[in-house]
Amino acid sequence: MSTKKNSSENKEFTQRKKDHVSLSLKEENEARGGSGFDSVQLLHSALPEMDLSEVDISTRVFGKQLKTPFVVTGMTGGWEGSPEINKRIAKACEKRGWLMGVGSQRKQMFDATAGEEWVKIREACPSVVLLGNIGLSQLIKMEVSLVESLVSSLKASAMVVHTNPLQEALQPEGTPQFKGGLKAIQKLCEQLSVPVILKETGCGFSKKTLKDLSGIGLFAVDISGYGGTHWGRIEGDRADKEKFPYGAAEAFKNWGISTMDSLLFAREVGKDYEMWASGGVRSGCDAAKALALGADRIGVARPIIQAALKGEEVLEQTMSRLEYELKVALFCSGCKNIEGLSQSVLRR
Ligand SMILES: Cc1cc2nc3c(=O)[nH]c(=O)nc-3n(C[C@H](O)[C@H](O)[C@H](O)COP(=O)(O)O)c2cc1C
Repeated sequence: MSTKKNSSENKEFTQRKKDHVSLSLKEENEARGGSGFDSVQLLHSALPEMDLSEVDISTRVFGKQLKTPFVVTGMTGGWEGSPEINKRIAKACEKRGWLMGVGSQRKQMFDATAGEEWVKIREACPSVVLLGNIGLSQLIKMEVSLVESLVSSLKASAMVVHTNPLQEALQPEGTPQFKGGLKAIQKLCEQLSVPVILKETGCGFSKKTLKDLSGIGLFAVDISGYGGTHWGRIEGDRADKEKFPYGAAEAFKNWGISTMDSLLFAREVGKDYEMWASGGVRSGCDAAKALALGADRIGVARPIIQAALKGEEVLEQTMSRLEYELKVALFCSGCKNIEGLSQSVLRR
């Protein structure tokens, strides 16, 4: 690739990443209330027969014992402000026992220096459990050896492949090429040295897709359903309406399968992978409901970047609040641990 093309791709990438962060913070770009978490409630226990301090929210994954079931799902990277934000998030995740997904590592495909951001974060936070990230439409054209190099720049415990057909279709410079996606995921699962996780970015998974994903070697599917950050809205906000796709995003601002519906679909499918729930998780109560419905892990994005931008202290408070709410939800459901939650859910 020529240096000129590299530099214009770099510039475009950097601007897009900055736009995504600032636009994701606008309330109207969230599908607030659409997650479906309000349609279920946990059964209250008036006699919990335990002390709140006995509640244990620890979980095990990738051979490690973690203090919580929470994951900061992949967000940002590759622009001048991102190393600071990511380091802040990584430090908090390391301290509090959360997994941390990094933002798309796509830039490392055309800029050899882009991996340095992650190398430095790994140096600063040697024990944080990091998850790599690449888009499915990029993966389809990539050699597994290149994905392996993304994993090693982070010393990642797993690789997340994000699938985002709506976003790619509505982004003027998007890459809506997903032909051969399932095969590419299967090949990655077979050949990569670490587990593979497939995640949406805010539109969820149907029953059919969840069925198709069984038997291909995935470690987990992260729902990332409708009800939180919405890329139809963000790309619509970003786009010049006079240019392609001429304001088409407006018609898709409510597109997607809610996180709750995707979770309920997953219960009906004979799946052989973990189910992670993200997309509109805004409280530990939402997290408890998702865990009660069978989720193994809980992902949060927007509230974390919003807090991280305000500083270390606000980030710690936000993460601490989510953990405390989850503990209280378990306590008031009479469950000492996450495993106990499964029978406690009531459909409204
Ligand atoms: C600023 C921002 C950037 C994001 N970039 C990525 C990304 O690079 N890769 C990815 O898999 N998901 C990305 N996401 C999607 C989130 O990981 C998550 O799936 C989605 O925002 C839904 O979660 P939320 O409602 O808690 O925000 C991004 C989200 C935000 C807010």
